[in-house]
Amino acid sequence: MMAEPCRIYVTHAIPEQARDLLCEACLNVELHGEDRNLTREELLRNLAGHDGALTFLTDRIDAEVIARAEGLRVIANCAVGFDNIDVEAATAHGVIVTNTPEVLTEATADFAWALLMAAARRVPEADRFVREGRFRGWEPGLLLGSDLAGKTLAVVGVGRIGAAMARRSKGFGMRVLYVDVQRNEALEQELGARKVDLETAVREADFISLHPPLTPETRHLINAERLAAMKPTAYLVNTSRGPVVDEAALVEALREKRIAGAGLDVFENEPDLAPGLADLDNVVLAPHIASGTVETRTRMVMLAAENVFAAMRGERPPNIVNPEVMERRG
Ligand code: GLV
Repeated sequence: MMAEPCRIYVTHAIPEQARDLLCEACLNVELHGEDRNLTREELLRNLAGHDGALTFLTDRIDAEVIARAEGLRVIANCAVGFDNIDVEAATAHGVIVTNTPEVLTEATADFAWALLMAAARRVPEADRFVREGRFRGWEPGLLLGSDLAGKTLAVVGVGRIGAAMARRSKGFGMRVLYVDVQRNEALEQELGARKVDLETAVREADFISLHPPLTPETRHLINAERLAAMKPTAYLVNTSRGPVVDEAALVEALREKRIAGAGLDVFENEPDLAPGLADLDNVVLAPHIASGTVETRTRMVMLAAENVFAAMRGERPPNIVNPEVMERRG
């Protein structure tokens, strides 16, 4: 394969396999090699002079960063979500923005289930129990959790990831409800899934899994009122974006056992947690790793790079999120 001549800046250290593939595919890759996020000053300074930037969800790419990134033509976010980027400002500056859908769908859906099952079957508590030397032998009432089979799963947002999450419920024989602005007939046919409003989902679900993008409409979609409407035996799983849940309200609901538990991969103010969250046993916490497999993270970096290459060749990048930029360029 011929290496592409364009200049790419990568804002974070990336897995070795991804780095090697990227350097093979592109002649001029500048990597911020350290395993830390760029400071704002670095972000403001370092993007200029590159054709494309591979960015991550921890990079806040706002209007000022975009304005200062002279010569930059593509921002390829290595994430399916792109709420960290001011897309409007990018469009105004003629900068293409792309994301990495599809390649992370299965890994993320898997992880939603990992959290759901870990919460329902109390896996982290059980692990701590054994490690702390408290296991004295089998007991009939030890660390009892909740069945999955035959229960009701409500999936909020049935785009690619939500739908993949819902499909996995087949093996558990669950009844599936979904909430979305659009009807998903494939899911209805495959799973007998039923489209309901959020209030019904919240009221009837034994498990709720959140998969919407973060927008002004989905911020605090799960608030104190909706948590109060959930069954006391129900669990909430969030692998989308932290601000979709009012985290302080969730801490209260979990503390007072108004719901049975939760599994969270994302938080409102990452990396900070709402006060009291980490003290609770009925929540499973993960550091935003739902897409975190070697294969998936490598595919994400390579897809982001392909988006940059396509833009440099004057082609429409496969995952452009602001196509109006191309139309304007003519
Ligand atoms: C991860 O959160 C992503 O949006 O890819």
